[in-house]
Amino acid sequence: MAKDFSTMEDSNRSGNASLHELSDPTRRNVLRGGLGGVLASLLAPLSLSGCAGLSEARRSGIGFASIPVSTADTVSVPAGYTTQVIAAWGEPVGLAGAMPAWRDDGGHSAAEQAAQMGMHHDGIHYFALDGSQRGLLVMNHEYTDDGLLHADGMKTWSAEKVAKAQAAHGVAVIEVQLQDGRWQHVRPSRHARRITASTPMQLGGPAAGHALMKTAADPDGRRVLGTFNNCGSGITPWGTYLTCEENFIGYFHGPERPDAHGRRWGLKKDGSGYRWHEHDERFDATRHPNEPNRHGWVVEIDPLDPASTPIKRTALGRAAHEGATVALTKDGRAVVYSGEDARFEYIYKFVSRDAVKPGGAKANAELLDHGTLYVARFDADGSGRWLPLRHGEGPLTAANGFADQGEVLIKSRQASGLLGATKMDRPEWIAIDTASRDVYCTLTNNTNRGADKQPAIDPANPRSDNTMGHIIRWRDDGDFDGTGLRWSHFVLAGDTQNARADAKGNINGDAFGCPDGLWIDGRGVMWIQTDMSTSAMGKGDLAKLGNNVMLAADPATGAIRRFLSGPSGCEVTGVTATPDGKTLFVNIQHPGESPSERSDPAAPTKFSRWPDGGRPRSATVVVRRVDGGVVGT
Ligand code: FEO
Ligand code: CA
Ligand code: CA
Repeated sequence: MAKDFSTMEDSNRSGNASLHELSDPTRRNVLRGGLGGVLASLLAPLSLSGCAGLSEARRSGIGFASIPVSTADTVSVPAGYTTQVIAAWGEPVGLAGAMPAWRDDGGHSAAEQAAQMGMHHDGIHYFALDGSQRGLLVMNHEYTDDGLLHADGMKTWSAEKVAKAQAAHGVAVIEVQLQDGRWQHVRPSRHARRITASTPMQLGGPAAGHALMKTAADPDGRRVLGTFNNCGSGITPWGTYLTCEENFIGYFHGPERPDAHGRRWGLKKDGSGYRWHEHDERFDATRHPNEPNRHGWVVEIDPLDPASTPIKRTALGRAAHEGATVALTKDGRAVVYSGEDARFEYIYKFVSRDAVKPGGAKANAELLDHGTLYVARFDADGSGRWLPLRHGEGPLTAANGFADQGEVLIKSRQASGLLGATKMDRPEWIAIDTASRDVYCTLTNNTNRGADKQPAIDPANPRSDNTMGHIIRWRDDGDFDGTGLRWSHFVLAGDTQNARADAKGNINGDAFGCPDGLWIDGRGVMWIQTDMSTSAMGKGDLAKLGNNVMLAADPATGAIRRFLSGPSGCEVTGVTATPDGKTLFVNIQHPGESPSERSDPAAPTKFSRWPDGGRPRSATVVVRRVDGGVVGT
């Protein structure tokens, strides 16, 4: 059965109107060294690199010649660059004593899949173990294409297949090492780990233990199994990884006529077609109505401790979280920005109550459990407000269905609607320019504005048939913690030559559509990744844009250049670099996704044979300069 994502992305019928620089390998030592060091690392991330070349490179902006649009079933990069594919779906992650090899017939078992790379690579981060020579790659596996995952596709369905699909979701932690200019996947590794849709996790924050979180299997409402549909990611200054649960609702089988809460979150009969409920009753929301409330959170993982229990941080709100990007205030509090990728949903920020403590993950185990969650309102005059989701304030009262703060967080969408937050065009990733303190968010597309009972355009979302998407930016008052902001558009995507006004972009450089992944590197260069859906690709306004790509942008000048083009039917999503800036790791997701259906078990290689001539596989592409220099200069 083809998965149907349509309702998940559009269930707001309410009536209201990165600091990846933190990835520096010295970060943990800095944290151990005291808070002053933490703040220094934020305020002067480049100085931490210990690399004069990087500072110099920052001034030189983007220095490569852009590549042309491509429809080839391959990865293209500019002249002078090389690529290498690692960590493809199905490769063993490197668990000692469990290294099942990839089988191109899809015949590996659920148990084998649980020891292999998952499907559909997405958000990724490099955690240094030995500077830019050896580290951990931690990455999300967003969802499964069951036609490709199983030897006979979807001809049959079974408990084993559900278990295999669940094992292909979640997060992978792998060790990688640079040897003679090429990156090796270190196996076995004591750091290697798979977190899946059935890994035990804790709930933290105000919604932990809430009545709406209790189930027959977990009467305390504090323990939950697994994470799935992990899309974008983030990192914290104390060295942990944040993985974000996006289209979680589609995994649940709901009643024919869901209640108002279910409808607001897109719950429906059969969900998006994952069919897990047929063999795992936890996913049958008609029998376990609170189980969906236990998903839709940002999950914190300590990648350096393979025995650690992941924790769902409910204080950050429940949403179809695309990603989570962390800033620090000058006095050391964490500010987490997160967009909710669904049509007419919202942009959030969380400000922690307490300051980051020296001592890494253990010392900051509860930092994300206490603080204030806000949702954004973008006003017509270029100002805006962060509206607090605080129980008892304004409309967030028992009379309006919010018994306590836990319920406000579980029902963040409903609360945000009552507060009058701005309904956005599918907020995806968020990136922070530490030099200017500007925060950027990709708004990937939305073709439903002004449609039946839907909001019309507004100044922040100015195109009604927005096939191309845009990138908004704002600067918060105060120190990332202010409740006021000033906003503007960084760019409206789409070819400047497009005839249709809603698709005509204002790009200074190479045309692109549907921005999704977003990251600002240690030099201040913005990397934009696109996700034009395969059903829309090659048609209408998108026809001339070829395959999905990654572009580099200079936030200061707005210049944008195409850097990498992915293989057929893929999206390019997730990017991270070594601290020296000389290696970029870029994830390629769902090569070979067909335009008409999400899988074609009869002919798995019909639309792509990337990366190795067989069944198409999501994988990580390593990009380096031939001369060993800093990527992008
Ligand atoms: Fe999973 Fe919004 O992309
Ligand atoms: Ca995405
Ligand atoms: Ca997307």
